[in-house]
Amino acid sequence: MPDIDTRATSAPEGAPVDDPIIRIVDLHKSFGETDVLRGISLDIRRGEVVVVLGPSGSGKSTLLRCLNRLEEPTGGQIVFEGEDITAPKADVNKIRERMGMVFQQFNLFPHLDAVHNVMLAQTKVLKRSAADAKRIAIEQLERVGLGDRTDYYPDELSGGQQQRVAIARALAMEPHVMLFDEATSALDPELVRGVLDVMRELAHGGMTMIVVTHEMGFARDVADRVIFMDGGVIVEQGAPEEVFEHPKSERTRAFLGEVNLK
Ligand SMILES: Nc1ncnc2c1ncn2[C@@H]1O[C@H](COP(=O)(O)OP(=O)(O)OP(=O)(O)O)[C@@H](O)[C@H]1O
Ligand SMILES: [Mg+2]
Repeated sequence: MPDIDTRATSAPEGAPVDDPIIRIVDLHKSFGETDVLRGISLDIRRGEVVVVLGPSGSGKSTLLRCLNRLEEPTGGQIVFEGEDITAPKADVNKIRERMGMVFQQFNLFPHLDAVHNVMLAQTKVLKRSAADAKRIAIEQLERVGLGDRTDYYPDELSGGQQQRVAIARALAMEPHVMLFDEATSALDPELVRGVLDVMRELAHGGMTMIVVTHEMGFARDVADRVIFMDGGVIVEQGAPEEVFEHPKSERTRAFLGEVNLK
């Protein structure tokens, strides 16, 4: 459940918060000579919905991938629920159980129907019994509006439905945080809405979410905070109305201008 008090704080956006669910301190990531993340510091409150915006190549995906250790940071620290997950002894698998991720590509197993796609990690990773995993899979598929599609195979589902199966698969692991990396970017326009509605429901249910998206309407309506990244740093952040209506940085203004012309 969201902690209403911490969400209602009047501290300036970006200021350190008490007991953040995620604390990122001076995060750096380089690929060879290329510095992709150049000192990201960010506290995320429990129940907060943070939308990350920025031009292509600004490091948004790299940031999310560092958070669940799909990428190895080259510097800095990430503390997740009090545990330093950048420490050498950190258990990457345990971290990923608590941090669900949804990508642009759904990556469902084509030979498994929806319910078995959602069951797989539950039985393999969490060692749930098949019966428990199935019950939870059906619950989660119902939650994303696919209660009537549980025995459909991926190629019998629309892109939007497949993405909702991918979300149900992540939710079945009972994550404490959900990361979304352009979850709707591969979808035909008419299918985007169903996925955004599921994400909106999740947000209203109190899930902590970090969302990379180009859906400005979603950012405006759902985000507690919008972060604008460029060149591997956070250029600006604030409440959505603040960032959209009164962007402080020239780079943010230019980016929003371009996005709105599309
Ligand atoms: N595995 C890799 N090896 C080398 N360079 C990489 C690698 N992954 C990402 N990069 C580089 O890091 C930079 C940031 O990439 P990233 O994917 O994080 O950007 P992004 O903000 O998510 O962009 P987009 O909006 O296009 O998805 C890019 O210049 C990219 O070429
Ligand atoms: Mg990306």
